[in-house]
Order: sequence, then structure tokens, then C-alpha cells
Amino acid sequence: MTTTIDLTRETVLQPRGVERQVQGVPTSDGAGVKLTRVLTHQLQRRLDPFLMLDAFGTDNPDDYIGGFPDHPHRGFETVTYMIAGRMRHRDSAGNEGLLSNGGVQWMTAGRGIVHSELPEQESGAMEGFQLWLNLPAKDKMTAPGYRDIQSTDIPEFTTDAGVQVRVIAGASHGVAGAVQREHTEPLYLDLHLPAGAAFEQALPEGHNAFVYVYRGALRIGGQEVAAQRMAVLEPGAPLDGHAHFDGVRLQAEGDTRALLIAGRPLNEPIAQYGPFVMNTNAEIFQAVEDFRAGRFGN
Ligand code: CO
Repeated sequence: MTTTIDLTRETVLQPRGVERQVQGVPTSDGAGVKLTRVLTHQLQRRLDPFLMLDAFGTDNPDDYIGGFPDHPHRGFETVTYMIAGRMRHRDSAGNEGLLSNGGVQWMTAGRGIVHSELPEQESGAMEGFQLWLNLPAKDKMTAPGYRDIQSTDIPEFTTDAGVQVRVIAGASHGVAGAVQREHTEPLYLDLHLPAGAAFEQALPEGHNAFVYVYRGALRIGGQEVAAQRMAVLEPGAPLDGHAHFDGVRLQAEGDTRALLIAGRPLNEPIAQYGPFVMNTNAEIFQAVEDFRAGRFGN
């Protein structure tokens, strides 16, 4: 979906700067899939409602061929965005789908799901991201859900400056994204900026926000953010009460691709044990017990 706009421009008067830059941690998950954990456990509170961001990108099949065989989740949502490659999803709720170039899989684990994510290719590039979005306490035990969003169903627009914007969730410059969520109101943009181009995005004051550069480099405030770096943006309403920020301004140093992600914090306790994210340890023990007893996906 492509929209031609610029009737609804977003003007940012007081852009947020960069609070800190984070380099991802190389790790592996599933059956030996090599990936970079960009948003780690230590940042869960700071970047509430987001729990994790993994980036994967390789031309070497040995790094991805094992995929992610059957494993459980409870209490949050997984959002997988595929830049290149093909991945087959199957789950205990009876869903099956093929995630491919530019597509998104939005899965609500809710009270419990067991799924597999396996590459449907034996060679070539595999590149993408998996973001974990927390659910509010009242929705953690909701029924599991699943949506496959093909690339052509992701709303897109191009700004006057030539910035191509893919609106996966939330809204940008008057264009509504493929997914909307109440409570956390996530914004998830994939931005393609030509060298020198700038992009402005309004952000609600209370929302936590970060940018992940996956090609090229960006200038945000006074800082350069290189490829494979996450920039945690300053809070919109700092504790000292002086400045209040209304958005962010990104300037591309070269041809650049980046994710801009923001959301309203839940401010609820986070109890995580691997693929289970609840509010209390008792709920975690219950999750482990329910999974062992085969009570997921029924
Ligand atoms: Co999973």
C-alpha cells in the first residue's frame, strides 16, 4: 500500500536527543540461530513496554538453518519483521503462515502458545528482527492470536525529502499502520532515508522510544548513531521538569535504514523466565507448570 501525502506534516519543535547508545550482544537462540540481542534484559524497565529486540542478518545458512523448533510463550506479543528470507510459522492454536521479504508476523502469546519458526530456504540471505511487546496484566491470559501481514499490506508513504516510511504499527504523518494496540500504543516504523535527508516524527511525551540503525548512519541531536547501534532516546518529560520534548528528528549521514520504535510504558512489575513474561513469580511458576502439563494451546 503506498500513499502520497504531505497534507499532515509532523512538525517537531523540541526534538529528543540520545540518552545513550547500545551495542547489541551477539548470541544464539533456537537451534543455533546466530543473532544480536539489541534490547536486553537490563533495558526492559527503561524501554517498557518493550522486552526484547533481536536482529538477525546473515548470508551463511549455517547461522540460521536450524531455525526455532517448538517452544512456548506466555504473557506478551512477538512481532517478527522479515527484511529478507522466508520463515515458516506453525503453532499450537492451529495457525500456519509463511513470513517473507518485507512481511510482519504479529503473534499474541496470551495465556500460552507453542510454536516453531523454521527457515524455508537452504541458501541466501536471512535478515530481520523480532521485537517483544509486553501485554498489560489484564490481557496476559487472553486467548492466543496470530496475524500474518504481507509486505503489500503494510502502509507506506514517501516524504518530500524522499524518505520512505513503512508504518508497521501506530501512525506517522497521518498514515495509520497495519497494527494498532490500545494501552501501549506502539509505534513501529521502518525508515529508508536517502543520504542527507531528514525525518521528523511526533512522539507522545510519556512514551519510551528508541532507534535502531541497520544500514548507514544517523545524526540524532548532536550524536552520530552508526549501523548496528541502538539509540535510546531521552524521555519526553525529563524529571528536572525543564524541557519537554515533542518528537524526534533524524538526519541520514548516508543511505540509511532504521527502525523507530516507541510505546506507552505499562509501569507494571515484570517477571520473566525465558519465554514467559508475567507480573509475579507465582505466575511464572504457574506458567512453567501449565506448560509441563501440556496446558498450552488448548
Ligand atoms: Co517464538
